[in-house]
Amino acid sequence: MVAEIDNKIVGHILFFPIKIISQENEYETLSLAPMSVLPNYQKMGIGSKLIEYGIKAAKKAGYGSIIVVGHPDYYPRFGFAPASTFGIKLPFEVPDNAFMALELLPNSLKGKQGTVKYPKEYNDDD
Ligand SMILES: CC(C)(COP(=O)(O)OP(=O)(O)OC[C@H]1O[C@@H](n2cnc3c(N)ncnc32)[C@H](O)[C@@H]1OP(=O)(O)O)[C@@H](O)C(=O)NCCC(=O)NCCS
Repeated sequence: MVAEIDNKIVGHILFFPIKIISQENEYETLSLAPMSVLPNYQKMGIGSKLIEYGIKAAKKAGYGSIIVVGHPDYYPRFGFAPASTFGIKLPFEVPDNAFMALELLPNSLKGKQGTVKYPKEYNDDD
């Protein structure tokens, strides 16, 4: 999704489906990445609007959760909590509070612990 002011794109946000895999389960969630707002338009609430609109769209599309790797001071205001709370891991190292998850429905991440499997485009060697 993009944010426009006077027909100019000033921000964008992408959500893509991704799987959380464990020995017992395979569960599809949404990954929020990347997002950006043009420097001259930052701190005006555009990023927040993109996230809030994205959360509504994700719910409407039937998703139960969203994960994000990002600024630990930014995403919690939208309800994101450390993904470790839900037993969800990444296949690479990041500080615990920089990998977050949001339940779009109560307890939607209950029992969904596992490791995120990124699409092959994320591999350095491809
Ligand atoms: C992060 C970003 C998308 C926020 O967009 P925005 O339109 O400025 O966001 P909003 O106006 O809704 O919110 C501004 C708030 O975000 C906070 N914020 C912005 N960048 C931040 C960062 N790197 N770490 C923590 N907080 C940040 C601001 O301090 C501000 O906080 P306040 O409301 O308490 O003053 C924007 O700063 C950006 O494009 N940054 C560069 C790209 C980037 O870092 N993308 C995110 C990757 S995880």
